[in-house]
Amino acid sequence: MTSATKTVKRTVRSHHCGELRASDLGKEIQLCGWIGKRRDHGGLIFADIRDRYGLTQIVFDPAIAESKDAHEVASRLRSEFVIWVKGKVRKRPEGMTNSKLATGEIELICSELEILSEAKTPPFAIDDEVETSENLRLKYRYLDLRRGPLQRNLLTRHKVLQIVRNYLDGHGFCDVETPILYKSTPEGARDFIVPSRMNPGTFYALPQSPQTLKQLLMISGMDRYYQIARCFRDEDLRADRQPEFTQIDIEQSFMDEEAFFPILEGMMKKLWKEVLNVDIPTPFPRMAYKEAMERFGSDKPDVRFGLELKDLSEVFGKSEFQVFKNAFVKNGRGISGSVRAIVAPGVAEKFSRKDLDELTAFVAPYGAKGLLWMKVNAPGAEGGELQSPAAKFFSEEEKAALKSKLNLKPGDLVLCVSDAKNKVVFDALGALRIKLGEKLGLVPKPADHKYAFLWVVNFPLMEFDDKENRFFAAHHPFTAPRPEFFDDFIAGRNLDAIEASAYDLVLNGVEVGGGSLRIYRSDVQAAMFKLLGLSPEEAKEKFGFFLEALQYGTPPHGGLAFGVDRLVMLMCGASAIRDVIAFPKTASGHDLMSETPSGVTKEQLDELGLLVRQSQKST
Ligand code: AMO
Repeated sequence: MTSATKTVKRTVRSHHCGELRASDLGKEIQLCGWIGKRRDHGGLIFADIRDRYGLTQIVFDPAIAESKDAHEVASRLRSEFVIWVKGKVRKRPEGMTNSKLATGEIELICSELEILSEAKTPPFAIDDEVETSENLRLKYRYLDLRRGPLQRNLLTRHKVLQIVRNYLDGHGFCDVETPILYKSTPEGARDFIVPSRMNPGTFYALPQSPQTLKQLLMISGMDRYYQIARCFRDEDLRADRQPEFTQIDIEQSFMDEEAFFPILEGMMKKLWKEVLNVDIPTPFPRMAYKEAMERFGSDKPDVRFGLELKDLSEVFGKSEFQVFKNAFVKNGRGISGSVRAIVAPGVAEKFSRKDLDELTAFVAPYGAKGLLWMKVNAPGAEGGELQSPAAKFFSEEEKAALKSKLNLKPGDLVLCVSDAKNKVVFDALGALRIKLGEKLGLVPKPADHKYAFLWVVNFPLMEFDDKENRFFAAHHPFTAPRPEFFDDFIAGRNLDAIEASAYDLVLNGVEVGGGSLRIYRSDVQAAMFKLLGLSPEEAKEKFGFFLEALQYGTPPHGGLAFGVDRLVMLMCGASAIRDVIAFPKTASGHDLMSETPSGVTKEQLDELGLLVRQSQKST
């Protein structure tokens, strides 16, 4: 930008607030921005002027003749007023420099000042560190977004998407927009639906992802597609889940994992280098789903620390202890549960009864009926070598087998979950592992810049839901079975054991992407719908167009979608995706600022032919 213009326009700046340095001393410049702190020092007024780029200190000195008017106006300045200032850059006096600030060596001695907008006193201070409740910040999101950390997050997000677009373009991927008003695209959540005024009684569904559409683009010969796609899912929200979120959605024809993974790994490598200046090694390690569950109790393991799960089924397979016995009851489909444990070495002393009770309460929501603890005491110490509420039920052989299986040493703490359902054991211990890891300081902090990427592969194709008594697609119904399971799939045999050509990319325990090779034969896709319990009529109603399209020459294809919000969250070291989304929703799906969702008028409902039942009206 140029310095002083001839005709001064009092809304135009010559520089931004993070730009001035010692090399600019003596220049006459104009700045625009928001007032931060104002300090009065015996006549002199100091104020910080802030914009997206940084902060500059301005000084109003009544002793300087040409600054007198400006000084008078300055006495009216309050936080968040928007101002225009003109002045000269000068060196800060000895001892007054601020090395933490990019502009910390200089200040602007103001000659002219104009208040462009006044501001009400903001409900919270616009500081980098803010201790206000998140709800208040969300209600005044536009003020929260003035804070440095959130501005930096949005800029990082912007940079990430710029790099991604360039990278994918460079690899021949074509950006294609797909409709938002569409038909249900199942990804395991409920649909948001939109009534059609022109076709009363019918509805669009907002896409849970552009899955069928990107596959149709492959059928159309598009070959390599991507889209920065908004997706909508009506599901329970968490720190890493929003009802609308953004994917980097990718699809490619004539590929397999070996051809596809390097492209995706290259994209991550480039992002980490250009955004964080961190070199991440490629190719990423791969781990089978089964191994991930058995070692970490999770299909998205954080492999940066240990505390791995150990299977004690062999040790306690014949146990007389009723709790363990219950774990080995066969269920209707021949799958029995297990007894598994986590060993926390050398920390037994640190865990009081109260701590252990808290951990027991922590695993309860995962379905665990209890958490059995064991402490290894020094020989001869209180409780003998193994201290546990259940120790009296264990035989000497079991104790010995336990010690050798877990390689136990005095001071070790063992936490054990048993259940007739493996899922309960894995979910409870998987979550406990993270909790313990955090408690024991084993989980690296964002500032440590430790990134562990991992492909989790060979997922089950289908999962059985006991409540609904039927199979569900574990990824989505368009995912192909791995070739070696194809015959079983077509015969509808051993459905539990069929593995999918599906893969997730996991980073530090967060699923940042998921994808698969697709079914590309219409008859195989129809077989899939049948196995998932869809009648031929339902399949035709929901996916007839898609089944038909598959019959017109479909290339083998596959793809993946990254969660932009999650990737950026991890890159920014944020703890929730809310912090990297400009206008996020609360856990109950509200936008507190605009008070969305909200009611509509009777006329709108009439036009759409809709009636809202009195009992379902939200208060
Ligand atoms: P999937 O359902 O695994 O796959 O989603 C891909 C990625 O999107 C992110 N994600 C979310 N982020 C924020 N809030 C949510 N509610 C949310 N749900 C998912 C995750 C996830 O890994 N169509 C397939 C992709 C494919 O097969 O190509 C799909 O959507 O980071």
